Amino acid sequence: MTSTTVTTSPLVQTKSFRLTRPSIVGPDSPEPPFPIQLSGPVQRGFGRGGKDLGCPTANLPDESLPAMSTVTKTGVYYGFAQITPRANADHALSKEETSVLPMVMSLGWNPFYKNERMTAEIHILHEFKSDFYGYDMKALVLGYIRPELDYTSREALVDDINMDKQVALNSLDRPAYQTYTSDPFFASNTPPQ
Ligand SMILES: Cc1cc2nc3c(=O)[nH]c(=O)nc-3n(C[C@H](O)[C@H](O)[C@H](O)COP(=O)(O)O)c2cc1C
Repeated sequence: MTSTTVTTSPLVQTKSFRLTRPSIVGPDSPEPPFPIQLSGPVQRGFGRGGKDLGCPTANLPDESLPAMSTVTKTGVYYGFAQITPRANADHALSKEETSVLPMVMSLGWNPFYKNERMTAEIHILHEFKSDFYGYDMKALVLGYIRPELDYTSREALVDDINMDKQVALNSLDRPAYQTYTSDPFFASNTPPQ
């Protein structure tokens, strides 16, 4: 990441913050700096997202992150993502699993886990039958949901992540956002006739 990203200490989540969260965010169509394109090979995180939080995430490598320096804010973003097969992938994903799917992305230091490195972790809103390490991922970031927060309990973080997923689905369900599912940035997953 470049030095333009703000690195102030995280705000602590409070119950009143969750109660006042809007269920839909951002303008009716994405405004600059969105859309932001990210892509790279899927990397392993620490694995706590799936085990501890019920929310598996796929990390993007550091080299994929400079594009996010235009936003200057750590926190949770929403958009669409697509897993694309590589020649050496050891198992096949279904056609649905390689389609363009809604995603939430956490960009930051995960203060709850006190990480020492900035990461971009993407959770795709779909039940995958197997993991997709060894695949590539493309993500189109279309808007911002909330700042990254610290939490006094794992349950409070899980509650907020669940709300992030619903906010992302509501926000992406607007016509101007839906058009990005067929953006040329994404690969067509229809095999040639
Ligand atoms: C939608 C979403 C929102 C998140 N929000 C926060 C947050 O506000 N604060 C935080 O410390 N971590 C947040 N996280 C990050 C989790 O702490 C992270 O996924 C966890 O560290 C697991 O990472 P790992 O699988 O690399 O171990 C969020 C993750 C997601 C997917």
